[in-house]
Amino acid sequence: MIESDQPPSLSTALLNWYDRHARRLPWRIGPAERARGQRPDPYRVWLSEVMLQQTTVAAVKPYFETFVTIWPDVASLAGASRDDVMKAWAGLGYYSRARNLHACAQIVATKHEGRFPLTAEELKALPGIGDYTAAAIAAIAYDESVAVVDGNIERVITRLDALDKPLPAGKKAIRARQAALTPEIRAGDYAQAMMDLGASICTPKRPACSLCPLAKNCVAFARGEQERYPVKPDRTRRPTRFGTAYVAQRSDGAVLLRKRPDAGLLGGMAEVPGSEWTREPSTNSASDAAPIAADWQPAANPIVHVFTHFRLELTVYKAAVDIIEAPHGTWWSSATSLPSEALPSAFKKAIESVLPGATKPKRKTRSAT
Ligand code: ADE
Repeated sequence: MIESDQPPSLSTALLNWYDRHARRLPWRIGPAERARGQRPDPYRVWLSEVMLQQTTVAAVKPYFETFVTIWPDVASLAGASRDDVMKAWAGLGYYSRARNLHACAQIVATKHEGRFPLTAEELKALPGIGDYTAAAIAAIAYDESVAVVDGNIERVITRLDALDKPLPAGKKAIRARQAALTPEIRAGDYAQAMMDLGASICTPKRPACSLCPLAKNCVAFARGEQERYPVKPDRTRRPTRFGTAYVAQRSDGAVLLRKRPDAGLLGGMAEVPGSEWTREPSTNSASDAAPIAADWQPAANPIVHVFTHFRLELTVYKAAVDIIEAPHGTWWSSATSLPSEALPSAFKKAIESVLPGATKPKRKTRSAT
């Protein structure tokens, strides 16, 4: 049981606001539907929360729709091949999430009789479910009164109390405050209301405080210092890594790909062949790490892709090659199959820089008459 140090009005004000302004999201049972007795499907809540880790709602929506269309329940996802799951995930990033998603579905299907565990504590034992995701699933799917804290909620709470301690050290106080504010009933709606408030009103820049149901309790607002919060730690600059990528295209349009090792960054995903990524720009010649001998031509500019911990600069080479056998560990992906390969964005960018449109699904063109 969570002791609240607040008058009930704060969470009540937020829930009243949510009843009127909740975003309609494909995985969400809105307040009106809940009032009519509908319950969220834990599978859909789990799937959306894993997808939403480090990814925006707008980016997740189409992926969520695709996943629930192909795999409407945890048993069907558990029965899918990992490659198909990785392909459907391609473009969402942070690919260990997709591997954990599949592993988690298999554990739920085989060890929990297809039902997700009922508490945050038990959910945490599953692959890919950390503190945040366990709390979010337990609150949203089962109304467990647990503190849910994501980036949006951190912003709301640090402003509400004008918490000066920079993140991540300040996280403890934020969690404690969120625990105290979380109501015993409608904990799931409360968490989602906080998320929506952070996404639509308590925004990083120019928050719409005149519309905020918590404005009269908000210390940062009273001081006119909303944008100071959350106080960030000194920005540690991301280092740059350098590499080379080789886009070989056969005369029938197929592109040479290989699979990345299972362990590590983008593990198990597809890539175009390339060099190791190093801390200094390479002084090697164009063909040094090339997968096949060909007339490798450099692209006009390197492509840049920003990962969480580093910035990647890839020099891209392109070559047109004859129909030849794919070297060991690689395969030719035909022009029609390339768009559905499990290709992370960095490699899509590399291919697109020399073969524009090659990774985009092919539209049927109407023939001119
Ligand atoms: N961000 C993370 N989880 C979310 C959810 N359930 N609803 C809206 N935004 C979210």
